[in-house]
Amino acid sequence: MVGRREGSFGNMAGVDSRGALQQHAPMEFRGRVFLAPLTKGGNLPFRRLCLAHGCDVTMGEMAYGYQVVKRSKSELALLRKHPEETCFGAQVAASRPADAIAAGLAAAERGASFVDLNCGCPIHDVVKRGMGAVLLQRPAQLGKLVAEMVKGLPVPVTVKIRLGWSADERNEGEVGKAVEQAGAAALCVHGRTREQRYSRAADWDAIARLAAELTIPVIGNGDLLTWYETHDRWQRSGVASVMVGRGALVKPWIFREIAEKQAWEPDASERLAVYHDLAQKMKVHFRDDAKGRERAMRFLPWHFEFFCRYRPLSAERWVAASREHPLLQTRFPDDEPDLGLLERLLRDPRPEVHERLAAILWEAPEPAAAEAQALELAAAMPPVAGDAGETATAHG
Ligand SMILES: Cc1cc2nc3c(=O)[nH]c(=O)nc-3n(C[C@H](O)[C@H](O)[C@H](O)COP(=O)(O)O)c2cc1C
Repeated sequence: MVGRREGSFGNMAGVDSRGALQQHAPMEFRGRVFLAPLTKGGNLPFRRLCLAHGCDVTMGEMAYGYQVVKRSKSELALLRKHPEETCFGAQVAASRPADAIAAGLAAAERGASFVDLNCGCPIHDVVKRGMGAVLLQRPAQLGKLVAEMVKGLPVPVTVKIRLGWSADERNEGEVGKAVEQAGAAALCVHGRTREQRYSRAADWDAIARLAAELTIPVIGNGDLLTWYETHDRWQRSGVASVMVGRGALVKPWIFREIAEKQAWEPDASERLAVYHDLAQKMKVHFRDDAKGRERAMRFLPWHFEFFCRYRPLSAERWVAASREHPLLQTRFPDDEPDLGLLERLLRDPRPEVHERLAAILWEAPEPAAAEAQALELAAAMPPVAGDAGETATAHG
């Protein structure tokens, strides 16, 4: 049952919940566009929305290995995938091999095609428990952990790192080698340090150097918001694959744009229909009753923090600027004079507007009904203070 790597293909067998051998589709780590692991954002309905818009590799929200060992229901739920997710990677945070393996096995039982070890989470509570980005400071321990996971899991193991703990402790080369030698099937690199969080542009030159140094596929990650930035960074860095995080939260249709190398610039009405689809998928997942609504409302308004940042960014106008500085890290003045009511509403950054939009989407049986109610809301809402000001698109 121990995995073997052949080229960039991972091994294929898993065990289902009844202990029967389950075949996993061969996992190809090259030439793919991954949806990044996103705590809260990467909930199952949102992942299905991304699939509907051309995404073919999804990843789950980070699950704590030690909580899976305790059979925590909420943690086990993070390892669950939808049958539509044919290439699903579960992400695990752990410091001890036993926890990582237990969580990885639980994920494989639930059909995960691969298991990813989180080595990038910057949060204090996580690193103080010896998980996440702190593993970057301990490459030898990390190597042993990954080797144990590779030995103990029936699916390929990947590792997601940042460039190091801080600018003074950059060690992505050493970490990458340790992970490769330990038998990881691929390495994902978010091109910033733990200390940087999101404060700077991702360093795609560093990602490129790592891709050149390693033989396992490197998946480059950081600041991809448009199809042209994605192809530019992908080509220039020589990475095997790319991963999209906030870009997908802002526009879940980015996957099709990347595949087709052209933008889809939906108007407000078309975007509302996409968001309505997410609400419907939440009804299916959480159930269409009062309890389901309550659970969905922990997520749906939150998504508007990202949806409201959508701006059409045509290649003609923005490609040159995007080579200098990523558009995801750029502030755009909201100075267009002729924005319609619905467009203004969807760009509104206020949490109370997000709550009300989410409620409308939940109640409306179809997009047209949602639009009529959203227009009423737009007419009733006083304009945002400093409406013509700047809107930040960077997160965290
Ligand atoms: C809301 C949010 C939640 C995230 N949760 C996780 C997570 O659970 N595991 C992880 O490895 N990275 C997580 N990240 C980091 C992303 O996976 C990704 O590495 C980072 O956002 C950079 O990619 P981007 O510039 O495309 O967003 C999260 C990022 C965001 C914005």
